[in-house]
This record gives sequence, C-alpha cells and structure tokens, in this order.
Amino acid sequence: MSDRPAILFVCLGNICRSPLAEAALRAAAARHGIGIEADSAGTGGWHVGEAPDLRAQDIALRHGIDISGYRARQLERADFDRFSHIVALDHDNLAVLKRLRPSGARAELSLLLDHVPGRSGQPVADPYYGASEGFAATWADVTAGAEGLLAKIAGLA
Ligand code: 4NP
Repeated sequence: MSDRPAILFVCLGNICRSPLAEAALRAAAARHGIGIEADSAGTGGWHVGEAPDLRAQDIALRHGIDISGYRARQLERADFDRFSHIVALDHDNLAVLKRLRPSGARAELSLLLDHVPGRSGQPVADPYYGASEGFAATWADVTAGAEGLLAKIAGLA
C-alpha cells in the first residue's frame, strides 16, 4: 500500500459516471504534476468486464482522453483498505458505501460534488437512460469534482 492518495470513484454501473470521474482526476493530477492513484467501480455488477458506454468514451475523447481500455468492475470489500478516498457519484451509491464500509477501514467516504464550492450535497445525475447531450453535463460535473477533490487532497486549496 503506497502513501500516495488513492481515490476510487463509485457509481452504479461503472460504465458512465465513475470512469469519467477517474479520467478527469487522472487528467487534473497530470496537469498539476501531482502523483495519485485512481480507479473506479460500480456498486452493481451488471456491466462487469465491459468497456465504458460509447457515449462516455466519446465525451472523454472530445477532451483528449481515451478511456476505451477501461473495464467495469464491481466494488469489493478490499477496496475500503486499498483506497484512501472512496468518492460516490450520487446519494444512493454513497448509502451503499456507508453500509458496506467495515469499521476501522482506511477509506474516507464522500460525495463527489461535496468537493465543489456551492454544490455540496448535489448528485452527479445518471446520464445512462438520457440523450447523449447528458454526457457533456456529466463531464462538466466530474471535471469540477476532480479539480475540487484534488485541491483538497493535495492541499492546493
Ligand atoms: P453509471 O450509469 O452508474 O454512471 O455507470 C449506469 C449504467 C448502467 C445502468 C445504470 C446506470 N444500468 O442500469 O445498467
């Protein structure tokens, strides 16, 4: 286990929001020259082994990031000690994390937009069943969240 901050993003399917949050954090960390580990997982297991939704791949690529090699996985118990921070994309997934977190585990739990001034308590809306334009809003949300989270973790704020 390294001392670097290790951040796991968690949504429902791990094919739309959390892979985009992972990509946004990796990009922000690279921009700022900050060493972190990042990963993502779903609370549900329906899409395990799948690449991100094509609409998520497309919005990431429009911002210069190729996420086609990401593969969905389901949250597991060991994640609560592997990661220093586990960040939920919405309240339902945060509730699952709170329920599953073993007492004394390493990971600190939070909601992504709690890290964005003025947006505390807001969820990142699930774009899965909507139109592809919804993914632009998802990208904007996860980018803001990643920047805010990084600022806190790395003491930039
Ligand atoms: P995500 O979106 O949680 O942002 O990956 C979803 C993906 C799949 C499903 C729901 C949400 N699904 O019900 O299959």
